[in-house]
Amino acid sequence: MSKILDTFLEENLQALHEQGLYNEIDPVESANGPIIKVRGKNLVNLSSNNYLGLATNDELKEVAKKTLDDYGVGAGAVRTINGTLDLHVKLEEKLAEFKGTEAAISYQSGFNCNMAAISAVMDKNDAILSDQLNHASIIDGCRLSKAKIIAYNHSDMDDLRAKAKAAKESGLYNKIMVITDGVFSMDGDIAKLPEIVEIAKEFDLITYVDDAHGSGVTGKGKGTVKHFGLENEIDFQIGTLSKAIGVVGGYVAGKKQLIDWLKVRSRPFLFSTALPPADVAAITRAVQIIIDSTELHDKLWENGDYLKKGLADLGFDIGASETPITPCIIGDEKLTQEFSKRLFEEGVYAKSIVFPTVPKGTGRVRNMPTAAHTKEMLDDALAIYAKVGRELGVIK
Ligand SMILES: Cc1ncc(COP(=O)(O)O)c(C=O)c1O
Repeated sequence: MSKILDTFLEENLQALHEQGLYNEIDPVESANGPIIKVRGKNLVNLSSNNYLGLATNDELKEVAKKTLDDYGVGAGAVRTINGTLDLHVKLEEKLAEFKGTEAAISYQSGFNCNMAAISAVMDKNDAILSDQLNHASIIDGCRLSKAKIIAYNHSDMDDLRAKAKAAKESGLYNKIMVITDGVFSMDGDIAKLPEIVEIAKEFDLITYVDDAHGSGVTGKGKGTVKHFGLENEIDFQIGTLSKAIGVVGGYVAGKKQLIDWLKVRSRPFLFSTALPPADVAAITRAVQIIIDSTELHDKLWENGDYLKKGLADLGFDIGASETPITPCIIGDEKLTQEFSKRLFEEGVYAKSIVFPTVPKGTGRVRNMPTAAHTKEMLDDALAIYAKVGRELGVIK
């Protein structure tokens, strides 16, 4: 066993503990529904990405069980050998229908979808304009591609335009791409896609939107690109199958030629085993549920609006979210952590998010209401927020 490794781990773990930055993980002792059990305690769950409640949906569970009996537990191989089941083909057709594109390709996670798709197209002779607040998987996907990464200030269209112009006029790059989250998960704000498309047209940029937190939520459930009617303008529509869709995986939707290229050049598709059959069947049904009806979407927004109004009426700073994601901005990092801890003790599971995930002094407790919450659950949560907020002096 390596002594150097032991020393490295010991020193760094100790430093994290001393700075209060070591994240202790609480195992959830139940399904990840609107009420969860943690350390034996039942809590109103405001921390999952299970926006539409589909992770615990009975119909999806039945579909998964039946498929498990028919196909077994694993896909057995990577997609390009014999891991492509008819179920994967059906799923990808359904995703293309969902996103209004010619074709789609699925991956084992949203994270590895970004690793796969960016590096399949961009290389060291290219440049990527990336919103400063883009998700870690986008940042890592950009790094893997070896393209020059040019970060622009968050949703600052003047900055994007200036940097796109400079990159184009430098003549240094073969291709230039602009990448943004569709919905930013820490604040719940929506990317300015119409302006981004306009800038992309002006400077001949490839457009890439990761709508992990938008699909199922914005555009009547069909996502942020649909919300703005830009299906024919965005080259890469990325999504996860693990948040509103409720299962696991990621995908790219776009032109057939793009998807054909990703099938031969994106490495996680070529070198990592395909999504398991039961998951694939459940995902396909989940997407159909979202296509067929806005019922869950409408309930999610109703609950989001209810929680936001309740918190704002109590006097909390809920930021400028445009989606059901509801940050409750406390400010000081230590106070934020104490706030989240007290919520837990009183019966609400809402995680604190502090620097470096968000800027210093903007520590927050982030709330994610879902379609599966009842008004009673939200009322219970609001009563606890009121009690803890007054006790810690965050509200009067
Ligand atoms: C914008 C964005 N992309 C990708 C991911 C990763 O998705 P997954 O959890 O499916 O790997 C996330 C997850 O938080 C995300 O917010």
